Amino acid sequence: MTDIVDSVIRKANNGTIMSYGQTSSGKTHTLFGNLSKDNHLDWGLVPRTISYVYQEIQSQGDPHGAAKWKVRLSLIEVYNEQIRDLLSSSTTNLSVLQTSEGIHIQGLTAHHANNTQECLDRVKQGMENRSTGSTAMNERSSRSHCVVMLSVTDPAGKESKLCLVVSDAIIICAECCRKPT
Ligand SMILES: Nc1ncnc2c1ncn2[C@@H]1O[C@H](COP(=O)(O)OP(=O)(O)O)[C@@H](O)[C@H]1O
Ligand SMILES: [Mg+2]
Repeated sequence: MTDIVDSVIRKANNGTIMSYGQTSSGKTHTLFGNLSKDNHLDWGLVPRTISYVYQEIQSQGDPHGAAKWKVRLSLIEVYNEQIRDLLSSSTTNLSVLQTSEGIHIQGLTAHHANNTQECLDRVKQGMENRSTGSTAMNERSSRSHCVVMLSVTDPAGKESKLCLVVSDAIIICAECCRKPT
C-alpha cells in the first residue's frame, strides 16, 4: 500500500488497490475493518491508506505545501449494473462516460476532506448508506462492488486518483463464463 500511495503523492500517478473474492472470504473486513477512530489496531486497509496519504502530504517538506494539496473523496457502489453515489442521496444510476481525459462518472460528488478524521467520517457516512437488512445484505454482498476514490491534487494542480475496490469479481466472472441453460 505504501508504494502505491508514494507513487500517487510523489509522481502524480494513479493507483488502485483491489480486493476480490467470494462472499465471506474477508474482503470487507480486510479493506474497512473497524473505522472507529479509537481503534487504529482494528483499522482495515482503507483507513490505513487514508491516514498514510495525509501523513505523506504533511511530510512533503515545504511547510506551506501541505495546505496547497487537495484531497477529495468519492464513494461508489455498483449494484445490479447500476452505479450509485453513496455520498449523495439524489444520484442513482450514474452514467460512465469516456472523455478525452479518461473514464468519467457523470454527476459523481467529490467531497473535500482536510484530514484523516474528516475523510473517515465521510467513509462511515457512505457505508451507512450502503447497509440494508441482513437478508438483503446477503443478496447484496454477492453482487455488489464498492469503490473508495481519493482524488489528490498536488500544489502544482496535478490531479491523480487512488482507488480502493472491494469486488465479488470471481462470482461476476463465473456468471459471465456460465453457459446459457
Ligand atoms: N481476518 C479476519 N479475522 C476475523 N474475522 C474475520 C476476518 N476476515 C473475515 N472475518 C469475518 O468473517 C465474516 C465475513 O467477512 P467479510 O469481510 O464480510 O467477507 P466478504 O466481504 O468477502 O463477503 C465477517 O463476519 C468478518 O468479520
Ligand atoms: Mg463484503
